[in-house]
Amino acid sequence: MCKIKTQILSEKDVAVAAQILKSGGLVAFPTETVYGLAANALNEAAVQKIFAAKGRPSDNPLIVHISEIDEIYNLVSEFPAKAQKLADAFWPGPLTMILKKSRVVPNIISGGLDSVAIRLPANSVARKIIKAAGCPLAAPSANLSGSPSPTKTTHVIADLFGKIDAIVDAGNCNVGVESTVISLCADTPKILRPGAVTPEQLRNVIGDVEIDAAVLSKLDENSKPLSPGMKYKHYAPKAKVIILNGSREKYINFVNGHAAHTVVALCYEEDVKDLKTSAITFGKENDLKSQAELLFDALRKIDELNQIEVVYARCPAQNGIGLAVYNRLIRAAGFNIINL
Ligand code: TXA
Ligand code: MG
Repeated sequence: MCKIKTQILSEKDVAVAAQILKSGGLVAFPTETVYGLAANALNEAAVQKIFAAKGRPSDNPLIVHISEIDEIYNLVSEFPAKAQKLADAFWPGPLTMILKKSRVVPNIISGGLDSVAIRLPANSVARKIIKAAGCPLAAPSANLSGSPSPTKTTHVIADLFGKIDAIVDAGNCNVGVESTVISLCADTPKILRPGAVTPEQLRNVIGDVEIDAAVLSKLDENSKPLSPGMKYKHYAPKAKVIILNGSREKYINFVNGHAAHTVVALCYEEDVKDLKTSAITFGKENDLKSQAELLFDALRKIDELNQIEVVYARCPAQNGIGLAVYNRLIRAAGFNIINL
């Protein structure tokens, strides 16, 4: 792909970003979860450029972003009562709903499925850009396919500078993990990807909610996941990541027993003082939100270290937003877990 000029815009440049999107270009901007790489969702040629810039497989469908709830009705063929309840409770915010798509949604968005993923983000810059563009925006995370999702402008620049028209530099994403994805296409709603809106919160609003098996376990080669994104290698640094599941004391002892210049600990801030290896932290042990906010930045930092071959990661708790952190980390580790 030939290099194109990438403009770095600020949050004041909403009109410039919108104009690029209207003319079929690609713009990365922050949402509250991660940076997204946007194109006009109704313009197939523009959406095609997203797949090319990211190196994304064409069967991995995209989330369509809207700025007001009214914009959803044109995009879906059914809007069940449970979807309305979820929208009232969690939009704008880090929740994506999978619904039956209308004929307006191009096949390239849905990867050939009969459903479409829709999200109304809370980030004010994101909403202003969607509104000013005047069309729904397809926006996957603004990283190269397979890399950790970007939570800072520098991450987007590292992956996509020279491949997209503009990047809106408007601060860090404070949620840090991508939105919760819930499918409302079957009788019982199903979480396909955990995020900041937790299973408990969803159950409080709509009752029964299942968690798809692919959230916590490895899919076999031939299975077809409900969320195609789940089957691809994701988030992994170049070094081999191994999750160590056990108490803090056992973790510290194991890592110190394997200390070497090729080893790095991926741990909580409190652990650093007791470790004999170099360490990269992702938040505090008893602050799950901080872990979500910092995990992807930590995974990117590992690649900046030289000569690292093995990463020993602490195993996150699986409650609340911890489930999302665990879901991303087990993928970064290729499901490599040692029980201490
Ligand atoms: O927080 C987020 O959701 C971010 C920001 C930018 O909004 N976006 C994001 O998009 O994470 P992406 O493309 O990186 O992840 C979308 C996920 C993928 O796993 C994809 O397979 C799944 O949603 N998905 C999209 N449409 C789907 C559909 N119709 N059925 C099932 N899964 C779908
Ligand atoms: Mg992504």
